[in-house]
Amino acid sequence: MFKIGASVLTAPYSTMKDTIIQLDELDVDYFHIDVMDGYFVPTMTFGSQMVKEIRSYTQRFIDVHLMVRHPENFISSFIEAGADQITIHVEATRNMSSLIQQVKEAGVRVGIALNPETSVDKVFPILSEIDNVLQMTVKPGVGGQQLIESTLENVKKLAKWKKEFNDDFDIQIDGGVNTNTIKRCIHAGAEALVVGSALIDQKNWQLAFNELREQTKPL
Ligand code: DX5
Ligand code: ZN
Repeated sequence: MFKIGASVLTAPYSTMKDTIIQLDELDVDYFHIDVMDGYFVPTMTFGSQMVKEIRSYTQRFIDVHLMVRHPENFISSFIEAGADQITIHVEATRNMSSLIQQVKEAGVRVGIALNPETSVDKVFPILSEIDNVLQMTVKPGVGGQQLIESTLENVKKLAKWKKEFNDDFDIQIDGGVNTNTIKRCIHAGAEALVVGSALIDQKNWQLAFNELREQTKPL
């Protein structure tokens, strides 16, 4: 079963509680929270306080995507805030193994993220240590961009590796997932699909979600 995670990046802060409650009722599989520091990416977004609030509105899985420099300074506060999974960019640290350990020791799932231009070879040595690989399928920083088709090649390579070595990490795609692209993402090997604007920016969330969910079902 493919999972659809709702990214609330483009949702207004002032109505975040209602947003979370409504998405929860739609039966999204999890919430994807984009943490941006203004350095790793030019934009700034949520801090751990927002994750703490979101945690109080939903029981669902909370997936924190850290798009920050010095991720070591952020991990513990997001764990304390109630994250179920912390995903760290391979481009943001030289110390990935110790950060992976830190997250795991707290009993939280750990993921690694790759930017579109990063070689997937970089993550092969650490795949056995982690629970999730997030392939950025757009340039990180803003919602509503078009999926970069060439990034699906990395997804194919990850899926091949997973099969060959019988590994059990999840393959997650983030950016540009919509009703036109979701099938191609799944075909490439994605199992968890982050959806931002194709859900949040639509008038009828129920309809938008149903259409996406329909596309994840086998024929
Ligand atoms: C972009 C973020 C994504 C974003 C996806 O840097 O990591 O999670 O919310 O938004 P869409 O689905 O609109 O591309
Ligand atoms: Zn994200």
